[in-house]
Amino acid sequence: MTARLCVLVSGRGRNLQALQAACADGRVDARITQVISNRPDAPALGFAEAHGIATTVVDHHAYAGRAAFDAALAAAIDTAAPDWLLLAGFMRILGDDLVLRYTGRMLNIHPSLLPRHRGLNTHEAVLAAGEAEHGASVHFVTPELDGGPVIIQGRCRVLPQDSVAGLADRVLQEIELRIYPQATQWAVSGRLAVADGTVMFDGRARTSPLTLDDLEDAFR
Ligand code: GRF
Repeated sequence: MTARLCVLVSGRGRNLQALQAACADGRVDARITQVISNRPDAPALGFAEAHGIATTVVDHHAYAGRAAFDAALAAAIDTAAPDWLLLAGFMRILGDDLVLRYTGRMLNIHPSLLPRHRGLNTHEAVLAAGEAEHGASVHFVTPELDGGPVIIQGRCRVLPQDSVAGLADRVLQEIELRIYPQATQWAVSGRLAVADGTVMFDGRARTSPLTLDDLEDAFR
């Protein structure tokens, strides 16, 4: 049965585009049934509409406080009734009750080699620290910001001439847009689960994240 995906966005939606392409060409056995944005002007909404995907805006500026926003967002997600909830460039911290209700069915992509560089401005932080490598991680979402168990990580070298924009683009194009569709396919095909904070893959507890070497050919 084709899984139903709800994707939360705030910006350009390049990860959304990769996920949609993978669903459309059959690499991911799922359908994006709803895109929700906290920003009415997010370009990702235009992409979704152009591809016939239902969209909802839950504008955090329209709510008196975090609790009211969280409740409205949760209602929008519950209405979509997704099998999996994917954060893709979503820039709001979710309330614990929403996260706990979707535990084990909510994924996020974060542009760093977690647990290094949680939070924002990861590319700047890597360059400022003079680190030799960088990358991106797909993880199960837990109430701890960018702290959930990591499913897959892709690594790349940091080059001496790298600018923030150049590094961010390389991480996105060479890593994020590959590992997120792959992780989503593993998820919707029942190969992924989380148990007591540990990623289970094909029924076995992972002691380390999967890597680019584990990508199926269709996602390379
Ligand atoms: C991406 O680097 C993603 O990892 C981060 O936000 C950036 C923009 O994502 N969370 P998108 O273009 O909106 O998918």
